[in-house]
Amino acid sequence: MITSAQHQFSAAERDTIYANIALRRDIRHFQPGGQVEEAQLQRMLAAAHQAPSVGLMQPWRFMRVRHAQTRQQIQALVEAERQRTAAALDERAAEFLRLKVEGIGDCAELLLVSLAPDDGTVFGRRSMPREMALCSAACAVQNLWLAARAENLGLGWVSMFEPLALAELMKLPAGSLPLGLLCLGPVATFYERPMLEALGWRQTRPLADMLMDEPLFELS
Ligand SMILES: Cc1cc2nc3c(=O)[nH]c(=O)nc-3n(C[C@H](O)[C@H](O)[C@H](O)COP(=O)(O)O)c2cc1C
Repeated sequence: MITSAQHQFSAAERDTIYANIALRRDIRHFQPGGQVEEAQLQRMLAAAHQAPSVGLMQPWRFMRVRHAQTRQQIQALVEAERQRTAAALDERAAEFLRLKVEGIGDCAELLLVSLAPDDGTVFGRRSMPREMALCSAACAVQNLWLAARAENLGLGWVSMFEPLALAELMKLPAGSLPLGLLCLGPVATFYERPMLEALGWRQTRPLADMLMDEPLFELS
């Protein structure tokens, strides 16, 4: 058994971690002209890269979008998908179009997170290869999200795009799957509640709705 010195969190440290989780928000409003320090970005990416992954496959890939022109092309893809989403929402289309669903134009940093081409890992994903790779990449994004909040920076996950079109635009290796455009940067305020809830789009459901007991089995 491999052991190492154990770090015990104090009660204050524990409370800080829970506060970070509770205060994290998906952010669509950024301070125009804001900046992320290079050291901050590296800390956050290092946090993302410490995520758990099935079979230790580490399937996340991050690409930094640096050029204004690329951002504009990305924004056009997102806008096209936003319109398609509205069309698919039928009677809620107009309400949806009033929501702000991305901060690509204003965020200080834009990162593309994608799933790497499959490396054939079997451990832990024989029966659900795609799903377990996706879950692992999502763990990395959540680490990044919480790290951003700890840095007092906002992060918004934008998933409205045609993945193949975005993969082509960003020249991702064959077999990659774009998962999110991550808008990152300083914000004027963090929303107190999920924005979709505050604006009446959907209500957060209580934890009790998500908890269930195992079914009772007949004891033979
Ligand atoms: C996988 C994923 C994709 C998302 N895509 C979008 C998106 O395209 N646009 C958007 O406005 N929010 C997006 N969100 C943010 C959710 O709407 C948000 O997490 C949810 O409403 C709860 O709000 P909170 O993150 O502030 O707690 C996404 C979140 C996740 C986890």
